[in-house]
Amino acid sequence: MSSPKPNPVRDTLGGADAKNLQIQLPMDDTLGQTIVGRLLQQCSQTHKFWETQPVAQLKDIKDTSLPEGPIEPPTLVSKVKQEPYNLPGQFEWTTCDLNSDDVCSEVYSFFKENYSELAFKAEYSVEFLRWALCPPGYYQSWHVGVRVKTSKKLVAFIGGAPGRIRVRDEVIKMAKINFLCVHKKLRSKGLAPVMIKEVTRRVHLQNIWQAAYTSRDILSTPVSTCQYWGRMLNPKKLRDVGLTLFTERMSMSMTIKFFNLPDAPITPGFREMERRDVPAVTELFRNYLCQFGVAADFDENDVKHWLLPRENVIYSYLVVSPETHEVTDFCSFYAFPVLIPGNRKYTTVKYAYSYYNIATVTLFP
Ligand SMILES: CC(C)(COP(=O)(O)OP(=O)(O)OC[C@H]1O[C@@H](n2cnc3c(N)ncnc32)[C@H](O)[C@@H]1OP(=O)(O)O)[C@@H](O)C(=O)NCCC(=O)NCCS
Repeated sequence: MSSPKPNPVRDTLGGADAKNLQIQLPMDDTLGQTIVGRLLQQCSQTHKFWETQPVAQLKDIKDTSLPEGPIEPPTLVSKVKQEPYNLPGQFEWTTCDLNSDDVCSEVYSFFKENYSELAFKAEYSVEFLRWALCPPGYYQSWHVGVRVKTSKKLVAFIGGAPGRIRVRDEVIKMAKINFLCVHKKLRSKGLAPVMIKEVTRRVHLQNIWQAAYTSRDILSTPVSTCQYWGRMLNPKKLRDVGLTLFTERMSMSMTIKFFNLPDAPITPGFREMERRDVPAVTELFRNYLCQFGVAADFDENDVKHWLLPRENVIYSYLVVSPETHEVTDFCSFYAFPVLIPGNRKYTTVKYAYSYYNIATVTLFP
């Protein structure tokens, strides 16, 4: 497979989070016939590790006789391997307490150094990490690190957060695995599969048997993929820092005019979400998400955690109908800075990623 030409915008957009959502479920017709075609085309290489794991395999894509349900049925927690997987002798496991400011800053610095090879690096703040990895009912044991025994230096991390995902009519407890990172100097030595197996073991110890993975590359068969589109808010700054979203056909003044926004929102009743909105937003979400075959099962606690605004992390807005006073529409994004190397004027650019958006009344103008 040939690598696409580097593009700082696309690469940093895509580097941060999900592109292929991998859930350990067999695929069927509704879960993406279009993806199947792309997969067969794109994925000619073998996956030594993932081919040994209980995920939908490429060879099974066209096999419609496979039953729907878990690939591996749950076993007894008492049968789960009690000891951690073996690491090469110089390393040891550590469980990262993200409530500790020191540990969280250490994880933050580790990501800053190692998460991205690109010139433009996403910077996951301590607040962002806590939001992403510590939702209600989270397990500290799923924040798995590897340290060098002698120096105690953190050299690898994988994080899991619990979530309830509804698959058709069944709500399943899952682990959402994210933030897999191995120190730059330790790559391609097989550490990532051990990290994945260890976090899986720790997930099983909580009597949870399914997981959702996100990854940049296609590994086994994705349940869902997503396409990133970029939208400039400050074209002049983006040009100055060298982010190349520009077409040669548009001058800077045309670009500014094209992307210009009104000084204030034009939708009547549009405002930032507040704590008092949690019940109405939860209801809006539940009504909206029930149309999908696979979706998060949000209750009020989830809505409080994932959607109540937190500066530099998550931003949520809604529309309250001036007539009925009901919450009719909702939009949100999460955000983090991306570091700009070697620029005299700017050190960071803020990236915002569209998150949940629900419109029942307001139409895009
Ligand atoms: C991703 C990363 C941890 C892989 O580490 P590595 O040392 O190159 O990987 P290893 O050689 O130990 O293991 C490779 C196996 O891990 C799998 N793997 C790599 N990234 C993965 C991911 N995000 N999710 C699940 N599995 C992944 C590979 O597919 C491969 O298995 P396969 O042979 O079955 O395909 C490392 O490149 C890294 O830290 N990158 C920067 C952070 C990053 O991009 N994280 C992923 C965010 S989506």
